[in-house]
Amino acid sequence: MTGHRKFEGGKLVVASHNPGKVREIRALLEEFGVEPVSAADLDLPEPIEDGDSFIANAEIKALAAARSSGLVSLSDDSGYALDRLNGDPGIFSARWAGPNKDFSVAMEKVEQALQKAGAETAEDRKASFICALTLAWPDGHTESFEGRIDGHSVWPPRGDKGFGYDPVFVPQGSDITFAEMDPEKKHSISHRARAFKQLIDACFTSQ
Ligand code: IMP
Repeated sequence: MTGHRKFEGGKLVVASHNPGKVREIRALLEEFGVEPVSAADLDLPEPIEDGDSFIANAEIKALAAARSSGLVSLSDDSGYALDRLNGDPGIFSARWAGPNKDFSVAMEKVEQALQKAGAETAEDRKASFICALTLAWPDGHTESFEGRIDGHSVWPPRGDKGFGYDPVFVPQGSDITFAEMDPEKKHSISHRARAFKQLIDACFTSQ
């Protein structure tokens, strides 16, 4: 494919301090022989995410990591969006979990907001996970991609695999939540997998 800058191999910084995401990104990159190092391992500072879209925030994170490490960096900005709540929590998905990053609190807030809005049926409770990925080079070049998966939000939360909002999300065509699903299955259909497919096709050469 032309028009996209390729990753030439070597070290790749995963610009995230979220262990759940770093784990998933490592698994997705494994087959490309990439040796990922995390921003937390390198002790890189966390930039302020003040963009107004998933891609804007992904670019802020990847560029900050690329500039401070001097290495190509990959970031993920993602979140959970409810149609009935006009896309909330959306880019504020991490913030809804509060300072203790407690996602049982965040899931409860979503549920309370849905109930307040009178959402009852699966149609009323339509939800999506969205993932923006940015690959950034130290010279400021970026390549960004977005993937999503649609489904609906259930209550109470079910399952203990995965992270974040996984226990309340049932993807279309399934009757179990992301947190009840085997991780390999989630990785094959998720918003992150879909964004990754685009990134890999555009910027990576398979080994
Ligand atoms: P940020 O991209 O680090 O600002 O935060 C995104 C937040 O969205 C995460 O902390 C998770 O709570 C949530 N999120 C993103 N992807 C997933 C996922 O695959 N499963 C569950 N929650 C997710």
